Amino acid sequence: MWRLGGLVATILLANVCAGLPSVTLHKRPISVEQLQASQQALQLSAANGLLGAGEDIPLLDYLDAQYYGEIGLGSPVQTFQVIFDTGSSNLWVPSSECSYFQLACDLHNKYDASESTTYKRNGTKFAIQYGSGSLSGFFSEDELTLGTLQAKHQSFAEATEEPGLTFVAAKFDGILGLGFPNIAIGGAVPPFQNLVEQGVVKEPVFSFWLNRNEPGAEGGELVLGGVDPSHFKGTHTWANVTRPAYWQFDLDAIKVPGTIGVCQGGCQAIADSGTSLIVGPSVEIANINKAIGAKGVLPAECRELVKEYVPQILKALAILPADQVCAAIGLCDQTGSQQARSVSRKLQALAGSDTPVQDSPLCPFCTAAVSYVKIAVASQETQDQIEEQLEAACDTLGFLASSQAIVDCDQIPTMPDVAFTISGKEFSLTPEQYVLKVGAMGEEQCISGFLGMDIPKPAGPLWILGDIFISSYHTVFDLGNKRVGFAEAA
Ligand SMILES: *[C@@H]1O[C@H](CO)[C@@H](O)[C@H](O)[C@H]1NC(C)=O
Ligand SMILES: *[C@@H]1O[C@H](CO)[C@@H](O)[C@H](O)[C@H]1NC(C)=O
Repeated sequence: MWRLGGLVATILLANVCAGLPSVTLHKRPISVEQLQASQQALQLSAANGLLGAGEDIPLLDYLDAQYYGEIGLGSPVQTFQVIFDTGSSNLWVPSSECSYFQLACDLHNKYDASESTTYKRNGTKFAIQYGSGSLSGFFSEDELTLGTLQAKHQSFAEATEEPGLTFVAAKFDGILGLGFPNIAIGGAVPPFQNLVEQGVVKEPVFSFWLNRNEPGAEGGELVLGGVDPSHFKGTHTWANVTRPAYWQFDLDAIKVPGTIGVCQGGCQAIADSGTSLIVGPSVEIANINKAIGAKGVLPAECRELVKEYVPQILKALAILPADQVCAAIGLCDQTGSQQARSVSRKLQALAGSDTPVQDSPLCPFCTAAVSYVKIAVASQETQDQIEEQLEAACDTLGFLASSQAIVDCDQIPTMPDVAFTISGKEFSLTPEQYVLKVGAMGEEQCISGFLGMDIPKPAGPLWILGDIFISSYHTVFDLGNKRVGFAEAA
């Protein structure tokens, strides 16, 4: 019933018995290139947050998402592979009206309105700013088939232009957003809301089980309208949603032996099925990566920079507002929102624009360092302590090229557990759970599952608990009670 690339996945009997519709998720093995691209995509989604006007912008970091499943649109049903993404709230698929020159469209399934008897025209323009271009098209309405369920009058976007690189290689055709309505672009009613409003699902709840352990086995399961008791042990621990945009909640603490200042006094986190890794503020992630023994690619150069610039940053901060410090030191070309401008330059560079880049490549590094130093000074840290923390950041700073943190595969058995405290309960990840093995046997590379990214205010700072977390802890998204629940996956 659920097919992809010739693979036929099983229909889960457990769900059939329980009467709960489910979508089987497929998993694609992840490569180093994909991880690097994913990191870029994450930075681009940060850029979306920076450059967008609204405060709640979907996290469009789906390039790295590994899990996708099948949906149907129209009558008769046209099928698509989509990422089920709790970090965004729109449904979109490629359109048959896609331009001739869109390679990404050519390689994917396309929705053809003229082939559907239930199609309703809308035509309102749809656009998401996405890195090297915008994903754009127009809204349409049709029936949506999800497993055994059907929603009538589902608003979705037909994409007619897709930023080339991102989607050409993607195994999936589109995205089905499972976030809250207020981050839905164009005010479209998100699919799951629609199912609930039409009384199609039993309960306003959906749940994810992601399988990371058995290669070749089914990738996971998304249950719509309930939970599958065969995929978790014990009971769920619940956290109320603190801001209903993403599935955001209070994280009480993150415990990693040998670190200080990680999620100090609590922090905000989201459960995001559309992100593979665990993402957090770059300096804090750097500390975690240091503690687990992960190394970046350019640490030596970066350490030199810390030694050179921290004293200057400290001096400048004593007399200047934070956003003028990097300009004063000569690392950024102007005052103002350096971070926003440097990210937008990065986007230009990726888009192949040959606009001269005026900022030093060190501008983003400086901006990140300044925001850290400001907090550190306020909490009475000494210059030595500050330098030490920033040097740790050198191992992973997302701003520097190829900065994915690598671990020695042989060291996995000796690495510490990392524990997340949610509603007073500890959710521990073992190194086997937080390290990603990529590449073929024999030339396997081990990559830290902790990635630094500074999500700007007002949405950030945020921690993103992606698939690494969700595959260890069965996750329930309870829309009715606006809460998220976690239990040990089984
Ligand atoms: C078109 O779709 C958008 C998004 O769902 C909706 O807000 C708008 O009201 C629709 N317009 C028409 C004319 O149906
Ligand atoms: C979560 O929200 C519910 C309903 O608003 C409330 O009764 C409960 O005390 C909250 N739980 C926590 C841990 O804040």
